[in-house]
Amino acid sequence: MPPANRLVPLARSALTPLAAPRLATCTCRFPTPSTSRAFSLSSSAQSHDNPLGLPRNDAPPTMPRMQRGLPKKRKIPGVKKVVVVSSGKGGVGKSSVSVNLALALSGLPAAADGARLRVGILDLDIFGPSLPKLMGLEGMGEPMLTSDNRLTPLRAHGLPCMSMGFLLPNSPTSDGTNNADTPVVWRGMMVMKAVQQLLFDVDWRAGSGHDLDVLVIDTPPGTGDVALSLGQLVDVDGSVIVTTPQDVAIIDTRKGVAMFRKIGIPITGAVLNMSHFLCPGSTTHHYIFGPPTSFRQTCSDLSLPILAEIPIEPTLSSCGDQGSPLVMMSSPFIARDSSHAPSEHDHKLPEAGKRGANGLDETSEDQRQDGARAAFERLAARVWNKL
Ligand SMILES: Nc1ncnc2c1ncn2[C@@H]1O[C@H](COP(=O)(O)OP(=O)(O)OP(=O)(O)O)[C@@H](O)[C@H]1O
Ligand SMILES: [Mg+2]
Repeated sequence: MPPANRLVPLARSALTPLAAPRLATCTCRFPTPSTSRAFSLSSSAQSHDNPLGLPRNDAPPTMPRMQRGLPKKRKIPGVKKVVVVSSGKGGVGKSSVSVNLALALSGLPAAADGARLRVGILDLDIFGPSLPKLMGLEGMGEPMLTSDNRLTPLRAHGLPCMSMGFLLPNSPTSDGTNNADTPVVWRGMMVMKAVQQLLFDVDWRAGSGHDLDVLVIDTPPGTGDVALSLGQLVDVDGSVIVTTPQDVAIIDTRKGVAMFRKIGIPITGAVLNMSHFLCPGSTTHHYIFGPPTSFRQTCSDLSLPILAEIPIEPTLSSCGDQGSPLVMMSSPFIARDSSHAPSEHDHKLPEAGKRGANGLDETSEDQRQDGARAAFERLAARVWNKL
């Protein structure tokens, strides 16, 4: 038995059930106390009782679905407030909003003594985890396990992060293929078990010994199992609904809002992402994906507070791909301390139209990035005020 708090590496064999070709048909077999642990290659490939393969001190896993009635909602250990970022439609920018919101929250003051909020990010997108890429944690190795078999978050930009992506194999395979391309091919029960372990078996106090003030949870799109589990299992404090301006996204947003209300997830408000685009050197809003009319009307119809309208910002995308979210970028115009807390002096943009040595309007590109960053900082302040 390792001493308390000693971290041990997560055994690679624990991850083998994630490789799609090795998955066997679900057998719905539940172990008895005498059953050997399910993270050896042979048993885990045929069982979905512990799909992440976390050793659990030989104790049989508890499955809420085996209890009578609905499971009781509970708090995530080591976390004071939980904020879910969600959307009815895929690809509208949930993951980008999640990481930039989390980083902007971490710049807000937690108390009068100037201490900053402790913020973490949990990526619950089992089939398409984005957090490793967006936070620059790809290939950074597996999370360590604590002596009581909880996952220790990886850290990036000062924030603890946990994602299914950290648990997938990412080293070259023997046949030379890149198994970072290996998809997760799981049935619903296995996904739900993984979601429960990511929700309740992560040591968010690791490294600091303090509870997180806020955990931002990035979710897969739609009204599926993950949203349902969050509503049924977790004491959620707020949620941010992300959409883009098109009707095709707004239609799904309405469904997502209805579902959250039905399952009792409190909705903090809505974010219109990719609301407009500002050409360099211009102050005219170009509504690439349509005007914000439908979004604003929907928010009014559904009594949804509008939290932010975030413009299309190419740098947001390129920064994400480089693992260094936009909110982390230093601004030539915004005076910041080592955190990135907004102050009353922030976001004062310089006059437009200054030209660089090459004659191009360099200033307005920077201004545009500042506009997007400022939108995230306002979003963070609004979300925190409503928690
Ligand atoms: N405001 C924005 N300006 C420019 N690009 C953006 C913006 N928001 C998101 N993107 C880009 O759009 C793409 C999709 O974003 P993201 O992965 O965050 O969406 P998602 O809703 O999490 O997708 P999924 O539903 O697949 O999880 C990414 O390439 C991202 O960089
Ligand atoms: Mg995503």
